[in-house]
Amino acid sequence: MCKEEKEIKQPIQTIGVLTSGGDAPGMNAAIRAVVRTALSKGLNVWGIRRGYHGLLREELFPMNWRDVSDIIQRGGTILQTARSKQMRTEEGQLKAAGVLKKYGIQGLVVIGGDGSFAGAQKLSQYGINVIGVPGTIDLDIACTEYTIGFDTAANTAMEAIDKIRDTSTSHDRCSVVEVMGRDAGYLALWCGIANGAERVLLPEQHGYDEQAIIDDIIENRARGKKHYIIINAEGVGDSINMAKRIEEATGVETRASILGHMQRGGSPTVKDRVYASVMGSKAVDLLVEGKTNRVVGYKHGEYLDFDINEALKMHKEIPEYEVDLARKL
Ligand code: F6P
Repeated sequence: MCKEEKEIKQPIQTIGVLTSGGDAPGMNAAIRAVVRTALSKGLNVWGIRRGYHGLLREELFPMNWRDVSDIIQRGGTILQTARSKQMRTEEGQLKAAGVLKKYGIQGLVVIGGDGSFAGAQKLSQYGINVIGVPGTIDLDIACTEYTIGFDTAANTAMEAIDKIRDTSTSHDRCSVVEVMGRDAGYLALWCGIANGAERVLLPEQHGYDEQAIIDDIIENRARGKKHYIIINAEGVGDSINMAKRIEEATGVETRASILGHMQRGGSPTVKDRVYASVMGSKAVDLLVEGKTNRVVGYKHGEYLDFDINEALKMHKEIPEYEVDLARKL
């Protein structure tokens, strides 16, 4: 039996929890579930502020039941978050494992995206039991159909786009609305369908035909259509220049709106509160069962867990049926 397996067999007494990467609505629900599930099982819990960055600076504090009162409805993360360059280095990873050991933390729940799981994977190699919980508004984690925050962000973006459409129609304008998502087009695609946009531009499609859009706007205008909404994914970008080019070519006043960080804030939807709670709780169950290097996911109506190494290798495709649907409708 290797050293790592021996360590895994020891029952967990003390765990830590951190949020890492971009914040996402619902992270607080996950933190609350981690803390309360762990306390119910008789474990000690340390909260770690500002993700791995805070871990490396020993920003740890013991958490009790009341520390997570009145947070399930709040956006952001009470633990705060950061992106840590140091954690990408071997030196940083060793130091982080050392801090966890110093505080007697045998198990760590990491709520974040793929980058955060890569850090967790390293900690697991240094003898810390780690469980990842997928938290990102981008929905770009391959092993899961659900990530904490996507539902709220999609609803927030949808409402903002409805509002843009009102003013766009009043002024007979075309609107290019840029939504977040980094290199993934899920937010854009969902808004495309939910907002009934005329066009959706996705990074997964590797380019788009601007002349076809221009022709379409001119044709729509001739038919008396008062607005034209283009939802542009952040991964395609260039919205401001795109709007200028479209206005010049069509003669139709065109405005660009970049929704930006407002999509990451706000009170989580019921879905984000409930799924995040289940996932947070499941992460603690897995630690208590002696599991490590796993990530919680949701697939085909079930909460599952996957090996982090495998999960990081998985690839996620944008669903073609929905892409076609956005085009057709
Ligand atoms: O990953 C979440 C996300 O909001 C992406 O959609 C976006 O590209 C990025 O984070 C923005 O990061 P930052 O808050 O560091 O500007």
